[in-house]
Amino acid sequence: MSTATAIAHPNIALVKYWGKRDSGLNLPATGSLSMTLDIFPTTTTVSLDADAAGDVLVFNGEERVDGPAERVSRFLDIVRDLAGSTVFARVDTVNTVPSAAGLASSASGFAALAVAASAAYGLDLDTRALSRLARRGSGSASRSVIPGFAVWHAGDDDATSFAEPVDAPDLAMVVAMVEKREKPISSRDAMRRTVLTSPFYPAWVSSTAESLDAAVEACRDGDVERLGRITEVNALRMHALIQSCDPPIRYLSPVSVEIFDRVAALRESGVEAWATADAGPNVVVLTRPDSVDAVTAALDGLAELAVARPGPAAALVTRADG
Ligand code: DP6
Repeated sequence: MSTATAIAHPNIALVKYWGKRDSGLNLPATGSLSMTLDIFPTTTTVSLDADAAGDVLVFNGEERVDGPAERVSRFLDIVRDLAGSTVFARVDTVNTVPSAAGLASSASGFAALAVAASAAYGLDLDTRALSRLARRGSGSASRSVIPGFAVWHAGDDDATSFAEPVDAPDLAMVVAMVEKREKPISSRDAMRRTVLTSPFYPAWVSSTAESLDAAVEACRDGDVERLGRITEVNALRMHALIQSCDPPIRYLSPVSVEIFDRVAALRESGVEAWATADAGPNVVVLTRPDSVDAVTAALDGLAELAVARPGPAAALVTRADG
């Protein structure tokens, strides 16, 4: 039976995806913009097994039988549907994100799984189809299929909601890994609570759609200052929105807030740097490559740091028919 291995990298959104229009198809309320990183790859092997009575997920060497295994199996159902197959598979996935990081592992995870599973089941998908497929596993994974900077179009339906590359200036990110602890609530559940309970949600949707258009324009124009400003404002709006849920959710820790303050002070001193954060306490600083040393010096002692540059597309490494 056939086996395929793929590698994908996490991405960090400059304009965030927060809220779904359709949770069945995983269609977002707004489009988003991200940079795929060149660090922390996920490597995933999918091996079809005609004798198996179910799918098996092995994550960093350990077999899982909980929520993640169920989510992977539901994703494989979509692939089997496309391929007209009823054969189960074993999925072996190795994540190199340090456990302390808690970074977008579902983005690299489902991008690698989309590429490996589609190849193992004999599907020949182009980049757009892979991005749409990865989106079904995790929205942000639609962008990890794309190298460098990607815009994920919200779309109107399954066919029109996919990510594609966008030209961007030369940029780097400094990832500040603040805490090891598990998220208090998954982004999927927190998004749902936001849509149901935050009075600010409609304003978030309309302002993010505007920010996305402006950010894509800034990207194409090479306007780093405008792109950076939009990035930080959008991140803080998302966190304000999340805190406005009932019951409230707060992902940023005191150290995260301290990092935002230090980045603002750095800007005052003339260094072009802007902070963003996803659904957790880690903070990512967008900057120019020649300002990376100034950023790491400013954050010294606050968190473990890693430097990232725009990374490659999700890619098939090997495919074999056993
Ligand atoms: C804060 O892609 O993990 O990182 O589609 O439910 O799997 P699901 O959500 P997910 O959410 C990512 C949220 C975010 C913002 C972003 O990456 O755009």
